[in-house]
Amino acid sequence: MNDANLTMTVPIAPPALSDQPFLTVRDLHVEFAAQQPLFGRYRSPVRAVNGVSFSVPRGQTLGLVGESGAGKSTAARAILKLVQVQSGQIVVGGQDVTALPTRALDGYRRQVQVVFQDPYSALNPSHVVGEIVGELVTHHRRVRAGRARDEIVADLLQQVGLGPHLMERLPGELSGGQRQRVAIARALAVEPRLIVCDEPTSALDVSIQSQIINLLEDLQARKGLTYLFITHNLAVARHISHTLGVMYLGYLVEMGPTERVYTQPAHPYTAMLLAANPVPDPVQQRQRAALRQMYRQGVEPPSPTRLPPGCPFANRCPLVMDICRRTMPAPSEAPGGGMVRCHAHSNEAAPSQRAG
Ligand SMILES: Nc1ncnc2c1ncn2[C@@H]1O[C@H](COP(=O)(O)OP(=O)(O)O)[C@@H](O)[C@H]1O
Ligand code: SF4
Ligand SMILES: [Mg+2]
Repeated sequence: MNDANLTMTVPIAPPALSDQPFLTVRDLHVEFAAQQPLFGRYRSPVRAVNGVSFSVPRGQTLGLVGESGAGKSTAARAILKLVQVQSGQIVVGGQDVTALPTRALDGYRRQVQVVFQDPYSALNPSHVVGEIVGELVTHHRRVRAGRARDEIVADLLQQVGLGPHLMERLPGELSGGQRQRVAIARALAVEPRLIVCDEPTSALDVSIQSQIINLLEDLQARKGLTYLFITHNLAVARHISHTLGVMYLGYLVEMGPTERVYTQPAHPYTAMLLAANPVPDPVQQRQRAALRQMYRQGVEPPSPTRLPPGCPFANRCPLVMDICRRTMPAPSEAPGGGMVRCHAHSNEAAPSQRAG
């Protein structure tokens, strides 16, 4: 999907935006141990998330973009308490959940839900929709199967634009868009306050993608939901996110107000991602093609088990300086707002080394 495909309407005026963070992540590190030794030597762990920090105000959306393997899903899984974190802090609704004991997980899952890319694998294929949504209603709201629960399920289905007749259907009898709506209804069943959306539209047709994005926006406006929205589609990210974060090899390399990041990218990697994104305007398209020429095409990023001491983008970056190969840039203020990790914007690079 490109920018032209995503002409959407938001049916309900968004509420006044809050500045109160609902989700805060501080200096998060997640590593995966190497499974087996290679030629008798122990392999280094995969450093999937490296010192990521962000916060998402209540009722807003933080979009996370970046190529496959950037660590987006791992960061999300850490927030969902599905992977162990090496260090850092995760605060949700004012509660530090970094070291939540197992017995507290059930209560946590009432606040935080997830919608994945592939609704088919997330829905039990042998259960009808009424059961799939209903079992969470029973578990979290203590309403047993029966007419009262059916009414709650029908209401949840209606909230995601599905009729009550679908309660008797199996996931295999639904379209991809309907399945994703059921997955959203199931997430809503526990009345969460934060929904982690991990590529929720990537497996859907373009026209259906827009409908699901509109639905998520509508639900956010009505319920004040907070979203962490992961996508590799920049047009989708631009549409839905209040703030946009860009990840590269486990690092959050840039973050800021979505329009600023999109129209005035500060990090060369963000500029590269944008240059790869088709736009309808032929002049802009030519500019992006020229920008694409500047990047080292076909150069592989370093392995996440052997990250270089300096900037992980150095071997692909047209602005690379000596300092970039030695030192990882610290976060600094990005022109126009937000944060960037790049020596071209930091005070650490000597003036003679700075890119113009
Ligand atoms: N369970 C796992 N075990 C080992 N390595 C993993 C595991 N999950 C993810 N990784 C690695 O962590 C890095 C980040 O992956 P991921 O978070 O899935 O990225 P993204 O969602 O941005 O595509 C990748 O190098 C990936 O191979
Ligand atoms: S720190 Fe250096 S190599 Fe890394 S993105 Fe900035 S200019 Fe390029
Ligand atoms: Mg992923």
